[in-house]
Amino acid sequence: MEFITVADAIKKGTGHVHLRGWVYRERKSNAFAFVVLRDRTNILQCVIKKENVSAEIWGAAESVLIESSVELGGTLKEDKRAPTGFEVEVDEFKIVHKAERFPITKDQSTEDLLDKRHLWIRSRELTAVWKVKAEILRACRDFFTKEGYFETTPPIITGSSCEGGSTMFHVDYFGEEVFLGQSAQLYLEAMIFSLEKVWALTPTFRAEPSKTSRHLTEFWMLEGETAWQDFEGLVQLEQGLLTVICQHVAKHCRDELTLLGRDYRELEKIKAPFPRITYTEAIEMLKKDGISIPWGKDLRTIEEEALVKHYDKPLWVTGYPKEIKAFYMKDDPNDARVVKCCDVLAPEGYGEIIGSSERETDVNILIKKLKMSGEKVEHYNWYLDLRRYGSVPHSGFGLGIERVVRWICKLESIRDAIPFPRTIKRSTP
Ligand code: 4AD
Ligand code: MG
Repeated sequence: MEFITVADAIKKGTGHVHLRGWVYRERKSNAFAFVVLRDRTNILQCVIKKENVSAEIWGAAESVLIESSVELGGTLKEDKRAPTGFEVEVDEFKIVHKAERFPITKDQSTEDLLDKRHLWIRSRELTAVWKVKAEILRACRDFFTKEGYFETTPPIITGSSCEGGSTMFHVDYFGEEVFLGQSAQLYLEAMIFSLEKVWALTPTFRAEPSKTSRHLTEFWMLEGETAWQDFEGLVQLEQGLLTVICQHVAKHCRDELTLLGRDYRELEKIKAPFPRITYTEAIEMLKKDGISIPWGKDLRTIEEEALVKHYDKPLWVTGYPKEIKAFYMKDDPNDARVVKCCDVLAPEGYGEIIGSSERETDVNILIKKLKMSGEKVEHYNWYLDLRRYGSVPHSGFGLGIERVVRWICKLESIRDAIPFPRTIKRSTP
């Protein structure tokens, strides 16, 4: 038997079709059973009329519960009252698996839903998020391929910290202490000496005790690193990538975005050129808004939110003070206080989505900065070798996939941007 998807059935609109999926909703009377069928594409109302089907089919229809898996056949017709505008009048109906009473009902607490996450990921809202996320990843891959980059596979188990020792997860590695990767950057930097233009998508771990709507302890980072690329080249690359992501999703995910409450036309407007300010300008802007922070302090959520209120596109903030940024960032030759770095802040207060910089190429400056940040230089010997054997100017960035998904899908929490969120309080299911 040939099955078609719900979306194809709706497109077809008439004729006899075979469908399979899960029971999204059911309602029964003495003479009718209404079953709303769900598959990966959409939902479709199906009606089983007692007088038209065998006793066996009626018995199955009458007993079916939500989330049972079923196969059915029937005739399509338009029906304005049905949730997606069409209805199937069923003449074949088979329960593949009769579900137990589904443990998720209306009005469940967030924690209950997270406990039942393995079942809740089937919800229509989350299904829409997974589709948008897959399209975002597709857009990223296409972008890097078109720009002539090589996808690479850096390690997760590591002995070196990239973003500071305090947020590393420690792992017992046959009696030796190692860590889960915080960023693949140092390894991508090594790879540019072979391939020049590289990227990777890796699971990333941060033991951040923050309980916020933008932090996960395990997330996916998309990173690119480019030999011979200066700071301007880096900003152009990031702007190209964000343009492609937003244009792709606005074109290919309209139904999903609508279901999630995001107007795709807002994303259509997100294309280069993008606004760009320096950290120092940001501090001045904040002062005018009545938010006074001393020069040298990192921007917190409230400051970032105040800044992006002035824009309806992602904002590039460049030149942060070197004291608050990582050891590998290159000093700005025009301003000794700052580094050649750039954070990208999403619109609407969704926070930082990209962290990036031109990299320091001088081995002695790197050693000095490592010592200043309290790191053990011997842990970085292999990395320092990269500046001993053919060092070149280079730059790169890291984009938090779930941060981007949260912004694009307008999600209240980053937890819903990943199927099985890992947070300070949660490591199951
Ligand atoms: O700004 P970060 O820490 O930059 C780096 O790790 C660089 N080594 C990347 C590079 O240059 N190759 O992290 C990059 C991005 C952030 O901008 C944010 O979007 C995301 O990763 N991110 C998180 N996402 C979810 N939960 C967390 N706890 C995150 N921490 C960072
Ligand atoms: Mg950052």
